[in-house]
Amino acid sequence: MPEATFRIKRHNPEKLDDQNGTGGDRYDEFTVPYESSLTVLEGLFYIQEALDGSLSFRYCCRAAVCGSCAMYINGTYRLACQTNVRHLGDGPITVEPMPHMPVVKDLVCDMTDFFAKYETVMPHIIRNSAPPEKEIMQSPNDRKKLDMPVDCILCGSCYSSCPSVWGEGNYLGPAALLKAYRFEVDSRDEARKERLPRFDNERGSYRCHTITNCVEACPKELNPTEAIQWLKGAAVRRRLLGRAK
Ligand code: SF4
Ligand code: F3S
Repeated sequence: MPEATFRIKRHNPEKLDDQNGTGGDRYDEFTVPYESSLTVLEGLFYIQEALDGSLSFRYCCRAAVCGSCAMYINGTYRLACQTNVRHLGDGPITVEPMPHMPVVKDLVCDMTDFFAKYETVMPHIIRNSAPPEKEIMQSPNDRKKLDMPVDCILCGSCYSSCPSVWGEGNYLGPAALLKAYRFEVDSRDEARKERLPRFDNERGSYRCHTITNCVEACPKELNPTEAIQWLKGAAVRRRLLGRAK
């Protein structure tokens, strides 16, 4: 049976022998036997179950829809559950937490700020009119506007990759702004006046410098940059021209 070498970045903030305040950062290597269909996530399970029970990582759906297992694998943002070991070449597979994120332990990032910023943009449909008696219909064209943004699984890869987030800590970041866009273009939403000030400010869309790392990083091949440019335009149109969209 073929074997793969996993080279995993370890971090334990509670480690007692930490001499330099880095949480004992180091890389550990593990040998993982595999068959043709082994994913990186399954390799991590093997390591945790058979070689080192202290290895920490986050996962949930194992089907690339929950966003929990986003990691930095061989220098690329990937979902561990949809990354086949066979497609990573012959060398060691380096697995690290998403860069520029605080780390709770090993491969587990602290997503507190990420989700706090996500909440800021009112990421849900808001209706101000009386509740409808039956479902609110959408035209095919209106639904089509949602095709791209609804696929966001909030994995955080784009956020981790964005230099504007690294440099300006309170910037909402590409994922939150993509979510703002998702509800701004939804024909059923009635909260545009309320949501606009949430992203049309010094923390919002104008902090995006069109660096496009977010597009490169997204494992779902989405385009937060395009969405943010739309938000900038919408804010200008509404503030200067008084248009609804
Ligand atoms: Fe992840 Fe892509 Fe959503 Fe960003 S836009 S959170 S990279 S799925
Ligand atoms: Fe950041 Fe993406 Fe804008 S990488 S600066 S949010 S285009």
